[in-house]
Amino acid sequence: MKIMITGGDGYCGWPLSLHLSKQGHDVVIVDNYIRRNISNELLAGSITPIAMLHERVAAWKRLTDKDIEFYMITVSYPEMCGLLSRVKPDAVIHLAEQRSSVYSMRSGWHRHYTIQSNMEASSALLSAMVETHVKPHFLHLGSLNVYGYELPEGYILPFDGRLRIRIPTPFEASLKTELIIRHPSNPGSVYDATQCMNQIMFDFYNRNEGIPITDAMAGIVWGADTEDCVLDPQLCNRLDYDGDYGTVVNRFMAQAITGHPLTVYGDSAQWRAFIHIKDLMRCLEAMVINPPKPDDPIRYRNVCTEIANVDDIANVISKMSSSAIRYMDNIRKETPSMEFRRAKDEFTQTYADACLLEDAHLEELAMVISKHSSNVKANRIISNVKW
Ligand SMILES: NC(=O)c1ccc[n+]([C@@H]2O[C@H](COP(=O)([O-])OP(=O)(O)OC[C@H]3O[C@@H](n4cnc5c(N)ncnc54)[C@H](O)[C@@H]3O)[C@@H](O)[C@H]2O)c1
Repeated sequence: MKIMITGGDGYCGWPLSLHLSKQGHDVVIVDNYIRRNISNELLAGSITPIAMLHERVAAWKRLTDKDIEFYMITVSYPEMCGLLSRVKPDAVIHLAEQRSSVYSMRSGWHRHYTIQSNMEASSALLSAMVETHVKPHFLHLGSLNVYGYELPEGYILPFDGRLRIRIPTPFEASLKTELIIRHPSNPGSVYDATQCMNQIMFDFYNRNEGIPITDAMAGIVWGADTEDCVLDPQLCNRLDYDGDYGTVVNRFMAQAITGHPLTVYGDSAQWRAFIHIKDLMRCLEAMVINPPKPDDPIRYRNVCTEIANVDDIANVISKMSSSAIRYMDNIRKETPSMEFRRAKDEFTQTYADACLLEDAHLEELAMVISKHSSNVKANRIISNVKW
């Protein structure tokens, strides 16, 4: 398949580009380096040293003789019209977003930037697909946060099936299928709100223009590298630890390795969904090689392999590293997440060999961070952004 990956220089996008290229797909990356610029703004870059994109793809070519094309451009409407016409991809995996809830709540400018960036990119891609008549499978990696920390899978599920609504005439005749209702959204930050608003846009383009869409709702992604990223130092993946972009497991581990207490916010009943970066690769691959049909309703998929309590994770890492745990008041409005426990069996991915939050996988992460621990800036670990 020819697969365009927007955001292919990022934490999920780079290893995914390698993974799909290795499977024999033609990969085309689109990225504008905004994430690298934001690292400069926050004075907190990746713990791991990351090569520039041209160096990354050259290293991949040298090792595997496989080409990855890349375009250093912003996902905008005119650029996407040109690129879709030229590339004619079978699938677009859309990862080019401002993805931090904390960053999205820093200031008025950051709120507006997040809305503008995340809404414009989706709109540009979908509108360009209509304009160019190139309608590949559009696979968006969104966030489980749209549900406000419950875990339905896309549609309202009353007991054992979808709730179907009949619309009275004259509208009924014009509907291709009975209307099914997407699960109500409940965003907790401006970033989450962009995911919810994008869902409405996806819905429109799917129903009105027949664009086949998968919206994959990911839990918190953790871990450093995949087997492809460790083949050469220039293929190394980015790894964030700072209070804005560092996701909880990666951040706890960076605190532990650099001798800081693990900071747990709020009460200890915070449940979250998780997936290791290696498992994310195969989830996304499975979705991209099995696209929905153009007339299918949007396919929603939850992407997580386990549900865990943040306090439990802190305790595991604390034992491994003899680090202290510091409990701090939650400075943000977050929904209590007890629902996770109930939904666990129904919605998590079942890979017998999934990388769970257990010693071996945590130790692998610890080794990567230890190797580059001098890049961790202690004063960037805790973010005081509140809402
Ligand atoms: N990392 C996680 O834990 C996680 C969890 C759930 C969902 N997701 C979703 O996965 C996607 C990717 O996340 P990530 O962790 O790889 O983020 P990231 O910030 O590491 O990567 C995003 C990439 O997109 C690029 N980009 C952003 N806006 C762009 C634009 N308008 N034009 C061109 N390039 C642009 C950035 O430069 C960056 O390289 C996001 O949509 C995010 O919401 C991530």
